[in-house]
Amino acid sequence: MYHVHMSYGPDSRALVDVTLRIAKAEWVFATGPSGAGKTSLLRLIMLAERCEVGQLLLFGQNVARLGDRQIPLLRRRIGMVFQDFKLLPLRTVEENVSVGLEVQGKPRREIRRKTGEVLKLVGLEHKARAYPPRLSGGEQQRVAIARALVNDPPILLADEPTGNLDAGLSAEIHGLLADIHARGTTLVVATHDEDWVTSTQRRVIRLERGRVVSGGMPDG
Ligand SMILES: Nc1ncnc2c1ncn2[C@@H]1O[C@H](COP(=O)(O)OP(=O)(O)O)[C@@H](O)[C@H]1O
Ligand SMILES: [Mg+2]
Repeated sequence: MYHVHMSYGPDSRALVDVTLRIAKAEWVFATGPSGAGKTSLLRLIMLAERCEVGQLLLFGQNVARLGDRQIPLLRRRIGMVFQDFKLLPLRTVEENVSVGLEVQGKPRREIRRKTGEVLKLVGLEHKARAYPPRLSGGEQQRVAIARALVNDPPILLADEPTGNLDAGLSAEIHGLLADIHARGTTLVVATHDEDWVTSTQRRVIRLERGRVVSGGMPDG
C-alpha cells in the first residue's frame, strides 16, 4: 500500500501516510503500542474500512476505490482471526466454521467436506458437534482459525490472536499459525507478544501513532 491515510472521523488519524509492502507467502508481524493503528491496518487490508487517500494493492489490483459490489468477493480471499475469537456460542463448532460457505449457497456435500478438512487441519474434528463455550480458549481460537480458512484464502490476518490465552495455549496457536504459513498462506499478525516475535524471526512492521516507523519494506 502506498501513502495510505485512514481515519474514523474528523478528529481521528488512525493511519497516517502508511507505505508498506507484504510479499506473497510472507509472514510479517505488526507491533506497536495500544492505539498505534494495528487493528486499523488489518481492517483496511480486509476491506472492512476504506482508505480515503492512497493506494491499496491486493492481488495486484488497486482496491482503494473499489465499488461496494466487488468487496464481498475479494474479502473471501482474506481470512481474519480476532483476540476474542468472535464465535457464535449457540452454534456448534462445525456450524461456526461452515457459516461462510452457507451464505455463499455452496452445495451441502462441499460444505461438509471443506468443513471437515479445515477442522482436521486445526486438530478439532472430534469437537465438530461441541459448542464453543465448552471448549478451552486455545480450542476456540483454533475453531476461529478453521472458520477463517474455510475459503482457502491466500491471506490470513490475525489481530492479537493469543491476547486472551495463557502461555501454554498461546504456544498451540503459534505452532498452528506456523503450519498455516508453511502451507503457503501469507500471514499478517498484530501482536504484543515480544517473545513470539523475537523467536519467530520474521519481519516486524512497527507502528506508532498511525505511522510506520520501521519494517515497512521486505528488504530493510
Ligand atoms: N471504531 C473507532 N472509532 C473511532 N476511533 C477509533 C476506532 N477504532 C480505533 N480508533 C482510533 O484509531 C487509532 C488506532 O486504533 P487501533 O487501530 O485500534 O490501534 P491498535 O490496534 O494498534 O491498538 C486510535 O487512536 C483509536 O483510538
Ligand atoms: Mg488493536
